[in-house]
Amino acid sequence: MQIPFLNLKPQHQMLKDQIMDIVSEAIDNTAFVGGKNVNGFEEDFARFCGTSHAIAVNSGTDALRFALLAAGLQPGDEVITTPNTFIATTEAISQAGGKIVFVDIDERTDNIDVEKLATEVEKRVKSSNRLKGILPVHLYGQMADMDPILEIAQKYGLFVIEDACQAHGALYQKNGESHKAGSMGLAGAFSFYPGKNLGSCGEGGAIVTNNADLAQKAKMYRDHGQSQKYYHDFEGFNGRMHAIQAGILKLKLKYLPEWIENRRQNAALYGQLLKDIEGVIFPQEPEWSKGVYHLYVIKVKNRDDVQKKLAEKGISTGLHYPIPLHLQNAYKHLGYKKGDFPVTEKHAEQLLSLPMFPELTKEEIEYVVSTLKKIIHG
Ligand SMILES: Cc1ncc(COP(=O)(O)O)c(C=O)c1O
Repeated sequence: MQIPFLNLKPQHQMLKDQIMDIVSEAIDNTAFVGGKNVNGFEEDFARFCGTSHAIAVNSGTDALRFALLAAGLQPGDEVITTPNTFIATTEAISQAGGKIVFVDIDERTDNIDVEKLATEVEKRVKSSNRLKGILPVHLYGQMADMDPILEIAQKYGLFVIEDACQAHGALYQKNGESHKAGSMGLAGAFSFYPGKNLGSCGEGGAIVTNNADLAQKAKMYRDHGQSQKYYHDFEGFNGRMHAIQAGILKLKLKYLPEWIENRRQNAALYGQLLKDIEGVIFPQEPEWSKGVYHLYVIKVKNRDDVQKKLAEKGISTGLHYPIPLHLQNAYKHLGYKKGDFPVTEKHAEQLLSLPMFPELTKEEIEYVVSTLKKIIHG
């Protein structure tokens, strides 16, 4: 059996005719930038996230960068995030002029450790007084513990921008309330890279917010700082979403709840089967999160060997992420060293992302788990 890590073919085969209609209409109307597709997708995506605004941009990286700038980040301001994320999270901080500060992840959730966050915030407020924001990442599609993060932020006057690039539709549930990923902080950033739970046929991203001022500024950042054509209040970027991608995303958004449900069922089956295999740590949903399983990440000893043997049996897997950001060459200048973030470093050696996509079948999941069991226990 050959099992890909991700298979984008089924959804595109199913939607091919409708996608071709969107492309064809854009060509007939020569409508490539802005217009009804972009406006329509923004309206639908804001409704999906439970926010009053969505601003469609060209990537998740743009969404993070514009959100940070629109939140008022100034050169040299510090922003806290975790070292177990894709580099786009921290690129956005640096490219918005900020300084990256890392806090380790929680052993159980892989998201920011809120106790270590509180300690770091107190330390920074006393020492540098340049701390301006917290950038929690809802990694793998599972919500970071937002209530304590928002409490810490409120106590010290910090903004919170959520990196929800892997978490479209994830829910934070506490005290009888329920909030969608991206809707709890000052703003949330999403990616529509093709492999994401909601993916374009190219690149795409969005900022969501309930703050009208931030929404207005983010719109200007994506369009050269223009308040109206050729009136530039500040320098911005060319970060507009393409109209064809917006049309495709508007179409795919209708299917997203069903795709999320399929991912949840796949995760439940993985969990049911993996619990009998000693030596495998599998994702446990924290009580506050209803995840969307963008990735299904287990932890195993001798990970590289296990990954190689799975590949020999036709099973493709991924690593998210094998080298923590504080140990990347790109961040040598930050002065962090091995040992600074022990949970992230330990997980980086053990983590293994199993195949996960909505159309994965029961038989395929059973094959992955039984193969894994044979590899680990012979
Ligand atoms: C956690 C995280 N943040 C940011 C990004 C950046 O998104 P994009 O690739 O659309 O720029 C991604 C996706 O690659 C991501 O997974």
